[in-house]
Amino acid sequence: MAGYTDVVFRALCRSFGCDLSYTEMISAKGLTFGNVKTSEYLTLGEDERAVAVQLFGHEPDRMAEAVKIVADHLGPRLSCIDVNMGCPAQKIVANGDGSALMRTPVLAGQIVEAMKRVSPVPVTVKFRKGWDKDTCVPFAKILEASGADALTLHPRTRMQQYRGTADRAAIGAVKAAVGIPVIGNGDIADGESAVSMMRETGCDGVMIGRAALGQPWIFREIKAAIAGQPYTPPTLAERLEVAVRHAERIEQVKGPHGLVELRKHLPRYLHGIRGSAALRTRLNEAKNAAEIRAFLLDSLKNITI
Ligand SMILES: Cc1cc2nc3c(=O)[nH]c(=O)nc-3n(C[C@H](O)[C@H](O)[C@H](O)COP(=O)(O)O)c2cc1C
Repeated sequence: MAGYTDVVFRALCRSFGCDLSYTEMISAKGLTFGNVKTSEYLTLGEDERAVAVQLFGHEPDRMAEAVKIVADHLGPRLSCIDVNMGCPAQKIVANGDGSALMRTPVLAGQIVEAMKRVSPVPVTVKFRKGWDKDTCVPFAKILEASGADALTLHPRTRMQQYRGTADRAAIGAVKAAVGIPVIGNGDIADGESAVSMMRETGCDGVMIGRAALGQPWIFREIKAAIAGQPYTPPTLAERLEVAVRHAERIEQVKGPHGLVELRKHLPRYLHGIRGSAALRTRLNEAKNAAEIRAFLLDSLKNITI
């Protein structure tokens, strides 16, 4: 997720059982122009053995060029390259990128073909139900015929953005229409919704987005549910300890700027906690991770779930 799934957050998710995490979406144009910020997205953690890199763009040759850069940079730690054909943001679709590719399915197929020609790892695609209507089955078939190795579907149209609910029937229809693995995505909030997504759609795996923010332990819950094992949610103290770990790691890896980035994560750890409003303000004023630790642990006396 752009702005969230950096090296620190991915490590946290892994520590709770996430099997594969993705980089934030990276511009193929930025990569091929040697844009420094873009290259920073390819920095992996020391213990990060496998990662999926997500690229966005709309020019087949440039996308293939970006694949070569990513593969050279990451070597055996690269698990797969994913193409973003789902982002609904205006500034992305205005360039013909992200979900705009659902309006140009022939070009979408050409992108996958060009990437497959040079990629040493599987090429996967994440897309939506359609632009303004349901076109996901024919789109999925084009991607499969172009060589895509797996597909992830977030079953809302671009025009829906994030409104309404994810249409699970669309995931089931894509799964029935193609022979490659299909990953279901959208509105998974807990172990139960992950299991029901798999049962109702027949999908081969699930992808978690927003529900991991502020609760990276959701991967442990989901894995327990899929395995039919009991699960004990973290206590309030354990939840805050994860938030502290996040703060300490981001400060170590990114320095003071990391703490600015952390501001969008921290309130999510406090979601649903009574009496946390004053704490949020204090946390925004914290000068370093040590202060965040002190504030959070001190707050345990005053707040409850
Ligand atoms: C802040 C934010 C950033 C996102 N960035 C990306 C991205 O870079 N690439 C992508 O494929 N999807 C991105 N998404 C979409 C999610 O991956 C996911 O498809 C969507 O949120 C639905 O799944 P969920 O209900 O589990 O969140 C983003 C979503 C949010 C809320």
